[in-house]
Amino acid sequence: MSWDEQTDGVEERLVGAAADREDLAVEAALRPKDFGEFIGQTRVREQLDLVLRAARARGATADHVLLSGAPGLGKTTLSLIIAAEMGAPIRITSGPAIQHAGDLAAILSSLAEGEVLFLDEIHRMSRPAEEMLYMAMEDFRVDVIVGKGPGATAIPLELPPFTLVGATTRAGLLPPPLRDRFGFTGHMEFYEPTELERVVHRSAGLLAVEVTADGAAEIAGRSRGTPRIANRLLRRVRDYAQVRADGVVTREAARRALAVYEVDERGLDRLDRSVLHALLNLFGGGPVGLSTLSVAVGEERETVEEVAEPFLVREGLLARTPRGRVATPAAWRHLGLTPPAREGGTGQDGLFGM
Ligand SMILES: Nc1ncnc2c1ncn2[C@@H]1O[C@H](COP(=O)(O)OP(=O)(O)OP(=O)(O)O)[C@@H](O)[C@H]1O
Ligand SMILES: [Mg+2]
Repeated sequence: MSWDEQTDGVEERLVGAAADREDLAVEAALRPKDFGEFIGQTRVREQLDLVLRAARARGATADHVLLSGAPGLGKTTLSLIIAAEMGAPIRITSGPAIQHAGDLAAILSSLAEGEVLFLDEIHRMSRPAEEMLYMAMEDFRVDVIVGKGPGATAIPLELPPFTLVGATTRAGLLPPPLRDRFGFTGHMEFYEPTELERVVHRSAGLLAVEVTADGAAEIAGRSRGTPRIANRLLRRVRDYAQVRADGVVTREAARRALAVYEVDERGLDRLDRSVLHALLNLFGGGPVGLSTLSVAVGEERETVEEVAEPFLVREGLLARTPRGRVATPAAWRHLGLTPPAREGGTGQDGLFGM
């Protein structure tokens, strides 16, 4: 069975960062409701807190905010917190939902004063909508086009001041004119294990699950720096503890449960490990080309490149070099193997000697 057949897309992967159906159903209940409950991201939280406090003190609408960062790090959560902290209503939409500029005009013209407009996946908006948004953000005005063809006229429409909160996983794809119109940009970082422990404890409390300190630490260490994954692993370990133990999420329960789901101590799953296995055992640690590696793993090139590799690179287990994929000494150690002795002065030495 191929990876796709087994998982019906990447979203269903246990350590995938994108939300799956169950996440969407339970996340609302687990979302922190204010800055006080929001764990980690101290820099963004402090900066944003200042922006919002100052706006409140001036009795003004807050500046537009852009939140960028990998999936599952809390962008949607923070946008809801921004509205809550401003005591403002929030309207939620997304780039792909806005097909035509008219869709955006309809939303903008119905905003109340001070309302927060959350635009998720803002990098996926259509070009004409994007251009309308520039003017709306800067001048709180849109041109509504009435009629078609040569007789069409643009009727300017004043908008009440509002706060746009844009979220994107790909800040690099935003056109500079759009990026420049945000008064504040928050870059969300991956979370530290101790922060994820707190996430696990907090979620366990909300789910009425008993969790021990070392149980939470075990889950946190396997969660790839991502609260969404920590919450998902917690639910799977809870299931295991309920069925096979006394319901308490202990270190032992976490280890056994995540062995069943093939998520290792570092958060690598079956796919990640099979890529490393092939790289080390078949190609001596590389360098090997992506196509060859993919064939050896029995996966599509895209799956290896886009699903497995980013985390392996981030973890310092694999390097992408001009000559091909190369395993780092940490990869050998992670699979319990001894890294080969380095040959003096080779390219590989240069790679890791820095
Ligand atoms: N700082 C945090 N403290 C506690 N829980 C958090 C935090 N950040 C995120 N979470 C949890 O992780 C889940 C996912 O967060 P959220 O939906 O905000 O991520 P996102 O960045 O919007 O992801 P995506 O890019 O997929 O839209 C939330 O339901 C929440 O329970
Ligand atoms: Mg989101």
